[in-house]
Amino acid sequence: MSAFLSVRDLRKTYPVARGLFGRPEPLHAVAGISFDIPAGTTFGLVGESGSGKTTTAKMIMAAEDPTSGQIVVDGQDITTHKPTERFAFRRLLQPVLQDPYSALSPRMRIGRIIDEPLRIHRTHRDKASRESRVAELLDAVGLPRNAADRFPNEMSGGQRQRVAIARALSLEPRLMVLDEPVSALDVSIQAQILNLLRDLQDRLGLTYLLISHDLAVIGFMSTQIGVLYLGRFVEVGPKAALLTDARHPYSLALIAAATPHSRVPPVSGEIPSPLAPPPGCQFHTRCPLARDRCRSEPPSLRTIAPGHLVACHYAETTRRETEDA
Ligand SMILES: Nc1ncnc2c1ncn2[C@@H]1O[C@H](COP(=O)(O)OP(=O)(O)O)[C@@H](O)[C@H]1O
Ligand code: SF4
Ligand SMILES: [Mg+2]
Repeated sequence: MSAFLSVRDLRKTYPVARGLFGRPEPLHAVAGISFDIPAGTTFGLVGESGSGKTTTAKMIMAAEDPTSGQIVVDGQDITTHKPTERFAFRRLLQPVLQDPYSALSPRMRIGRIIDEPLRIHRTHRDKASRESRVAELLDAVGLPRNAADRFPNEMSGGQRQRVAIARALSLEPRLMVLDEPVSALDVSIQAQILNLLRDLQDRLGLTYLLISHDLAVIGFMSTQIGVLYLGRFVEVGPKAALLTDARHPYSLALIAAATPHSRVPPVSGEIPSPLAPPPGCQFHTRCPLARDRCRSEPPSLRTIAPGHLVACHYAETTRRETEDA
């Protein structure tokens, strides 16, 4: 299977001034990540707030320039694109974001919101063909056709997210970047939207980059999972490996937090500031298994099974030790 999206050693560093007169210091929002998403599959990016998920999404959507690294979409390195190439390429990649309300202009009717990309990209010259495309898209996302005449504030949160999905689908993208697509919705509505996204993927062969802080959402949707901590992967692998054979103490804590009656404690304390990340293993300040070596020697991301990579010195024994703890 060939990768539809391939990310290599991607980095984003922001200069951030500490205090009013402080010299800018580098904040490594994304500190060198690599992954591939085979066409038609879902890569789930999970991690706490501040771990670099949205920055990664923005670079893939070409809304932020990477500091370094490569992003290859359908065989083309988009980091070297000129603005005109970017515009044409944007059709292939569409975002669906957390808050459907702020993403939709309140004064535009739903029909207009959905057909705006068609007008911007001049794919459907006449009004009748745009109207029939809007009707098709409303069908595809399970909204009644008369929804086209309504305004966003006349719809529920779930309906608005369906509108955002219809708009994202309008130009027949191949990759959708879903950044916390259900985080703002009630749990009962979340499942409906996730099922819709899965159906659309099957029907249209879409490739998804799914971002969520919620491991239950990631586990339900993903083919592969990457766990981010302070802008780096601490563990990456096929879904089954991550959910049943996770090795990084941070992954184990996230799984425990999503599992009722788990004996493993959830991760304690705050995520450290990315302006002053801990030396050695960056997780050592919160790791229940940390020992001296962890405080000085950074673990590399190493392969422990095909496609399953872990950044922990003690990946071979973490499961046993966590359960015994
Ligand atoms: N434009 C920016 N300028 C400075 N720092 C930023 C900027 N955008 C994000 N950051 C910082 O980068 C880190 C990662 O942020 P983000 O990618 O939004 O994380 P997530 O989506 O996982 O919550 C955070 O520490 C955040 O404060
Ligand atoms: S390297 Fe050490 S501190 Fe880091 S996750 Fe593994 S055991 Fe914990
Ligand atoms: Mg985010």
